[in-house]
Amino acid sequence: MSIIPDVPTDLHPPTAGTDRLLAELTDDLARLDPDGLLRRLHLVSSAGPVVTTGDGKQLLNFTSNSYLGINEHPAMKAAVVSAVNRWGTGTGASLLISGRLPIHVQTERVFAKFKHAQAALLLPSGYTANLAVLTALAGPGDLICLDKLCHASLIDAARASGATVRTYPHLKTDKLERLLQRHSSTNTSTNACGLAGDHRSPSNYVRPPRRFIVTDTVFSMDGDTADLPTLCDLAEQYNAITIVDEAHGTGLLGDTGSGLCGAQGVTDRIHVTISTASKALGGLGGIITAAQPIIDTLINLARPLIYTTAIPPAQAAAIAQAVELIQAEPGLRHRVRDLTIRLRDGLKLQGWKLIPQGDFIIPIVPLVVGDAHETLALAEHLYANGILAAPIRPPTVAPGTCRVRLSLRADMTEEHIDRLLDALKSFEK
Ligand SMILES: Cc1ncc(COP(=O)(O)O)c(C=O)c1O
Repeated sequence: MSIIPDVPTDLHPPTAGTDRLLAELTDDLARLDPDGLLRRLHLVSSAGPVVTTGDGKQLLNFTSNSYLGINEHPAMKAAVVSAVNRWGTGTGASLLISGRLPIHVQTERVFAKFKHAQAALLLPSGYTANLAVLTALAGPGDLICLDKLCHASLIDAARASGATVRTYPHLKTDKLERLLQRHSSTNTSTNACGLAGDHRSPSNYVRPPRRFIVTDTVFSMDGDTADLPTLCDLAEQYNAITIVDEAHGTGLLGDTGSGLCGAQGVTDRIHVTISTASKALGGLGGIITAAQPIIDTLINLARPLIYTTAIPPAQAAAIAQAVELIQAEPGLRHRVRDLTIRLRDGLKLQGWKLIPQGDFIIPIVPLVVGDAHETLALAEHLYANGILAAPIRPPTVAPGTCRVRLSLRADMTEEHIDRLLDALKSFEK
């Protein structure tokens, strides 16, 4: 796709002695191209609802996860500037050394209150937060059950933990139950799979094995939602720990915008929630909410927390400000929901088959095409008609389920949605 040319990468000649490696890598990359799987970086002029290309072409941006559009809100900018003026740009140390500033404490308190949790903990990103939670709480001999469509960061985290990882088909809680049943006849000397495991606590006490049910609350590539009450029932029945990734739910769902846990009335039945500031909150940072002993365990065991520098004060300040906006301006989530309904209704009229969303309207609308080349053709058609939309291909989604993912923002207009619909109308399906 002829998106704005990126900055040239040939500023310096390659390091001497790497010819063979570079030739191999170039060949490998070339092999991805015929399958429509080669990925390239693109440069866009801003992170708003309308972006401009290098040659002055304006595109409506349907690729942003800033669902509430607050990443350009004056209050967010003011909070960040004020934090920089007060504390500077970087923390200079990890949380455990001297990276924890008053703004971190303040933001964690705001967030814990927002999520009705005992405590909260800030990490640099949602990816590292997921890694921290699963690698600190699970280990060899434990069992982690994941929905098949969980985000890659949860899958990577589960694998890195060393636990036995099992996936169940997307949203099929009966299959999850079968997994739990199969592994429920365990005792303290064997792990969840009947194998001897290393369940070492921080103090070296060998603990009993653990079972985890792990899911996204809102699935990032399908825009549908988990059935959390059923997952909680299963967790209680099979003595499992519930861990949910609210990356795409926080800020959007529930009466106060706290997420799907609030909307489905299970906040006090979920053991660990991971949110990210990189979507509706319009910033960057991972926020874990849980009971204090869980947070204290992460502080003691989670390598992605121990061995990384604490998030900059500006990021922490933006998170607290975003929570304030989410609570003060419920109209933002109503607005993006109304725009999503307009888009979905228009797509249905055009005959697009949409993934059912259940009880919740999520501003993620995938147009599942199937083939990678056809998906690229749709994204290119949209581009030619003034729309920026993301072609999603393996490994992000399974082969044969390639799609153009449309995401909406509260600062878009009805006219933007109608322009997208017009552009789609002229595409030969
Ligand atoms: C479901 C889910 N979890 C976690 C992440 C990672 O979040 P972050 O971008 O803050 O690292 C993402 C974002 O890509 C996501 O979609």
